[in-house]
Amino acid sequence: MYLTETEKALAQGQGGEAVRAALSILIEMGELFGAERLIPISQVHDDALLFIGPAIHEFVQKMVDLGGRVAVPTSLNPADYDLRNPEGLRVPPDKMADCRRLSQAHLDLGAAPTWTCTPYQTGFLPRFGQQIAWAESNATAFANSIIGARTNRYAGLLDVCAAIAGRAPLFGLHLTANRAARMLIRLDGFSREELTRDELYPLLGYVYGRLAGHTVAALEGLAGHNGDNDGLAGTIPIDSLKAFTAAAASSGSVGLFHLIGITPEAPDRAACFQGRKPAEERVITPADIDQARAELWTAQGDTVDLIALGCPHFSFMEFMALDRALGQRRVSENTACWVFTNRSVKAWLADSGLLDSLIGRGVAVFTDGCPLCYPHQEWGFSTAMTNSGKFATYGPAQTGHAIAIAGLAQCVESAVAGKIVLGGGRD
Ligand code: F3S
Repeated sequence: MYLTETEKALAQGQGGEAVRAALSILIEMGELFGAERLIPISQVHDDALLFIGPAIHEFVQKMVDLGGRVAVPTSLNPADYDLRNPEGLRVPPDKMADCRRLSQAHLDLGAAPTWTCTPYQTGFLPRFGQQIAWAESNATAFANSIIGARTNRYAGLLDVCAAIAGRAPLFGLHLTANRAARMLIRLDGFSREELTRDELYPLLGYVYGRLAGHTVAALEGLAGHNGDNDGLAGTIPIDSLKAFTAAAASSGSVGLFHLIGITPEAPDRAACFQGRKPAEERVITPADIDQARAELWTAQGDTVDLIALGCPHFSFMEFMALDRALGQRRVSENTACWVFTNRSVKAWLADSGLLDSLIGRGVAVFTDGCPLCYPHQEWGFSTAMTNSGKFATYGPAQTGHAIAIAGLAQCVESAVAGKIVLGGGRD
């Protein structure tokens, strides 16, 4: 790999041992992928926060001990648990100790204590065209697709190396040619009303991810290009795009997608295909959405004991929608209603008075953590209902729950009733 004079010096240890180690890992990884050189990056989103074993802590701590510090602004993905309210989540002390020491090691590197999978909604917002190194599948796909920044789907610890080195190998989605769509996916048969429902987007993302896999694809029809509707360009809420992105990046290895007429590298079909013709064409119909819902829906009858919201982390706007849907009613005593968010949004909720109000109506608000990682053994829930395609995709394997997936309004009705309601006949 070509290295600049500065990089050669850093690779020989002139920037310290942590930089040398980080750079050597990035160079080796880049050579595996055929990268010709490194590029400077302007941001990192670091998701090596889940304590999957002692080695992950040892690696980060080693970098700290070698004097490592992040060279660029670095945000942190959720830790395993709520660092401020582990009691509320019934986290066993030994698990909490592991979580805290891993979290502390990342802070010691100089990363910002964002503890969120939606850094793009809390101020860590890259610009169009900026080269960044983000991990966490929903965040990388959002940065690439919705913002038009450039990152690969970095894995945990490679993100740490990129943060310390301030560089990433130039390959994959950092390169313009690799950002071209190869597959065209058309929406067919959707009414405008169907396209404006929030519950469509996680399921649409799930179907899209299954079709696209690791291929960069372009979705046509949301902006009215198929003639079935008069176009939603500019009107789709950012949280619906977030829901689509997270689901697509879970059901498929999606790092970048284009929504024709909506996302910045896809003003029209020709632009996102970079002048080429689609190598493959597929269609998504309302029947595919029904099929996806049926695949994900494993709940039996109307039993539900956990309503899980905030995967990805809930935004302030989503909390406002939750408040409206709940009205003056309370969550049933038969059902927990948990919402996961970050500290910034929770602080806004507190300042606005909404936090106390929601808690008073039976909603639990957690920060820092991830709903897939709560201590399942301590709770024993059997069935979770969610509005998240990502939670629905990973939930059964990771939490052991049966899953019901629906829109936010249906989740709230179910929370109030203490059983699944408005389930669309899937009981
Ligand atoms: Fe975020 Fe955890 Fe969902 S990291 S996207 S809340 S699986």
